[in-house]
Amino acid sequence: MSGEQEISYSEAIQKASASITRFPLIPVRGVPLMSYIANNWDSIWAFRPDPSDLLIATYPKAGTTWTQEIIDLLLHNGDAEACKRAPTPVRSPFLEINSPPPIPSGLDLLKTMDPPRLIKTHLPFQLVPPGFWENKCKAIYVARNAKDNLVSYYHFDCMNLTQPEPGPWEGYIHKFMCGELSWGSWYDHVKGYWAEREKRNILYLFYEDMKENPRREVERIMRYLDLSVSDEVISKIVELTSFKNMKENPMTNYSCVPAPVFDQSISPFMRKGEVGDWTNHFTPEQSKMFDEDYEKQMKGVNIPFRTLI
Ligand code: A3P
Repeated sequence: MSGEQEISYSEAIQKASASITRFPLIPVRGVPLMSYIANNWDSIWAFRPDPSDLLIATYPKAGTTWTQEIIDLLLHNGDAEACKRAPTPVRSPFLEINSPPPIPSGLDLLKTMDPPRLIKTHLPFQLVPPGFWENKCKAIYVARNAKDNLVSYYHFDCMNLTQPEPGPWEGYIHKFMCGELSWGSWYDHVKGYWAEREKRNILYLFYEDMKENPRREVERIMRYLDLSVSDEVISKIVELTSFKNMKENPMTNYSCVPAPVFDQSISPFMRKGEVGDWTNHFTPEQSKMFDEDYEKQMKGVNIPFRTLI
């Protein structure tokens, strides 16, 4: 990094820390979104992707970064150096985000990139800009079982100082169950994409399947993208995207986001990367209460979630 660049980077961080705030939530068509997203809603909704763009949609903390890395590596035939050209959010813009500097806003970044682009969103299906479906863009959805997703989101809300204050654990469980967290209800999110997956040709993946057999899921993504890479390259991609390797990789571990925004001393972005960590956080009573409510909220839909593998 040149001296000049270093100065502008540290200035940007200083500016960022001065403006860090936990944003309030404002409903957009009933879905609570952070105020800077809600206030910029018209531009987000009007976004027109190119038909060659690929959407990766998730509820927050379902394995987005992992999937983004797998896809970028597949698109670069497993070339690790090529995928170190920039941090994840720069290589694969986050559609609705408007982060404090030095990370540019998703829409601004997209303007500077030529298609095909790998575009991340946490928006529920009904809030995805209609241009994606009109242009028949491919879309990959990753779902993670509710309890692990909740635990991961809780830790993230503690360390991401722009997200609303998580408050105590017990209350956080209730907020999750009532759909009061940023990007709304987990239940509606996973059901919304599930209902549309066939009509819209959405590849619906599960975090637990990726943990159980990453190779199988990398191959599934490869086929969906009409790519063909060698068995050797697949093995390399599986290795490069292991939790350990992604945790150590500065391009994937979100060390690019300044500490006043992501305070990784509170909880690292690459935290545990496991299935079943919920058993270390839910008391038996909380688990029972959560399961009873889950039955009601997921009644009539049979999405094959697994809370343990
Ligand atoms: P935990 O908090 O349970 O560790 P997202 O990218 O959607 O924000 O999701 C982050 C979650 O995915 C975190 O979960 C993170 O550790 C996990 N994760 C990221 N990369 C992973 C990988 N290569 N293997 C397994 N889990 C990974």
